[in-house]
Amino acid sequence: MPADRHKQSSKYTADRGMPGAFAGETVTRRRFMSGVAQGAGGIAAASFALPALGFALGPVFKRQQLDWQIIGTTNDFVETSYVTKVITIVQGIGEAGKSIAYVRKRDPAIDTEPHDQWNNWIALSNRCMHLGCPVRYVEAAQRFICPCHGGIYNFRGEVAGGPPVRPLDRFYTYEPPEGHPGHGYVYLGPRYSVNSELQRFSPRDPGEPLDGIGQYLYPSRFDTAVRPTLNNLPLPPTVPGTGS
Ligand code: FES
Repeated sequence: MPADRHKQSSKYTADRGMPGAFAGETVTRRRFMSGVAQGAGGIAAASFALPALGFALGPVFKRQQLDWQIIGTTNDFVETSYVTKVITIVQGIGEAGKSIAYVRKRDPAIDTEPHDQWNNWIALSNRCMHLGCPVRYVEAAQRFICPCHGGIYNFRGEVAGGPPVRPLDRFYTYEPPEGHPGHGYVYLGPRYSVNSELQRFSPRDPGEPLDGIGQYLYPSRFDTAVRPTLNNLPLPPTVPGTGS
């Protein structure tokens, strides 16, 4: 009996008494053929599934292009009120890719968040940070009002009432240095989000708080642009008749 068991467990098909076995053969033809069929099936399935998976997941990992756009000259903006600017947030899709930014000059007396080359002009997104409705700047009250659920933001875009979970998002702004053809123009760059202290975070969706544990509960997406680069600044429009 033990000898039979030993014979059964031999790696040679001939020792195991398999019909049609060849001397020295270790894999049955049936097992070989089923392995080949499974392998071919796997390759065929992968050839369908992998491109679809890549198509679906590719955009998630692709960083957004950081496009700058000129929104006016430096004289167009003042500290005491906002100018409404139509901006392009998605290129190539026409009107659907447009949005609104409220822009003013930075006022050191009230804009106490850290100052650098990216916020000489304060550019606020008009997207409410509750559920994303468009907010409207009301000059008389110096407030941003959301018509959907009564969200209110103060002059700096901080939440002053209602359900929004964080201040209005902002856009990087920039004026090129003297000598650059764009000097004297205000450029608007990518959007970023802020917490209640107006510290910068990569863009988040409405409804995602950034204070305390919120910044970890709602991490940035892989596809969001984090820092602006200056290698794709568009040139200002030429003034007819001046050659510049
Ligand atoms: S979407 Fe603005 S308050 Fe709800």
